[in-house]
Amino acid sequence: MSLFNVYPLFDITPVKAEDVFVFDENNTKYLDLYGGHAVISIGHSHPKYVSAISEQVSKIGFYSNSIQNPLQVALAKKIVAFSGCIDYTLFLCNSGAEANENALKLSSFHTKKKKVLAFKNGFHGRTSAAVAATDNAKIIAPINAQQEVEILELGDLEGVEKALANNDVCAVIIECIQGVGGLDESTAEFYEGVDALCKKYNVCFIADEVQSGFGRTGDFFAFQKYNITPDIISIAKGMGNGFPIGGILIHPNITASFGLLGTTFGGNHLACVASSTVLEVIEEENLMQNAKEMSAYFMEKAETISEIKNIKGRGLMLGLEFDFPIADLRKKLIFEHKIFTGSAKNPNLLRILPPLTIKKEHIDVFFEALKNELN
Ligand SMILES: Cc1ncc(COP(=O)(O)O)c(C=O)c1O
Repeated sequence: MSLFNVYPLFDITPVKAEDVFVFDENNTKYLDLYGGHAVISIGHSHPKYVSAISEQVSKIGFYSNSIQNPLQVALAKKIVAFSGCIDYTLFLCNSGAEANENALKLSSFHTKKKKVLAFKNGFHGRTSAAVAATDNAKIIAPINAQQEVEILELGDLEGVEKALANNDVCAVIIECIQGVGGLDESTAEFYEGVDALCKKYNVCFIADEVQSGFGRTGDFFAFQKYNITPDIISIAKGMGNGFPIGGILIHPNITASFGLLGTTFGGNHLACVASSTVLEVIEEENLMQNAKEMSAYFMEKAETISEIKNIKGRGLMLGLEFDFPIADLRKKLIFEHKIFTGSAKNPNLLRILPPLTIKKEHIDVFFEALKNELN
């Protein structure tokens, strides 16, 4: 049986990885400035992570959510300590789309409304309501298109008020810094305005932190740059450093009841240990501070290159915008310089999403290669 052919693949086969490097079957070493799409937070195969997961699987890897699992409680406590989202509760699932799906469903249960407001160039996943709220017609099937979604320009506060005033919107879903779309970010006035309007019209504010959360921007959550209180915060990607895990943090205003949400695999023992270990390493190695410092260093270097028209992003969620499509440049970086980078919906934007453990010497290697290709 062959594979369902949905991914355009680069012909590279990583077989092992260590910190910011991956190695193919010929032992060729690649510098990973993509983090498997913002997933690798504490570095590939971190020894503490490997031993914690190995030890856990030798004891118990999985059992159902119908029994006690103190590892979930321990993870929730750690997330609270890191995020400062003190009174929130945690529901665990397996991916970013699933986190947003649960966030949208919960908003609808809570407000008893069903329309969703989302933003241009937003990306929230590929499942039912999450994909309907994603601004990409190509990935929305007719079955998804039956969801009621309105997509507004990022920054259109008046449009938000007009839509919410109809009293049929259950949720506004927003990435406070856009990932796949190309690292656009609106103003404090906009995010804080949306938050206030959500409170006024009994609408859930969903902060999609699937890509930006868990320290990637140098803050634990990207929304924390603003004075806002999301009703639901969705998380995944960096949370498990590659182990599939997602979740939502839920404001105490939203009450739980048995059966409201549920999952077979979500919050399993292995996933919880993976994510708790990620948080321990972030703390022990001061990785949020490193994200800030390496970001500043990266930007400083980027500013010296005249071909770069715009430097976008925060922390280690960065983008370099050129006045030409970057597809060829990206290929050259991979095949000639052995450096992984990312693309975006914006074809001129090269995305940089390295492990949070990255050091100056790795950034230097990237800029040497980039200069080489641009000359
Ligand atoms: C902001 C954001 N939300 C949701 C998702 C979907 O996550 P997943 O691919 O784990 O379903 C992504 C994935 O890229 C994302 O960037």
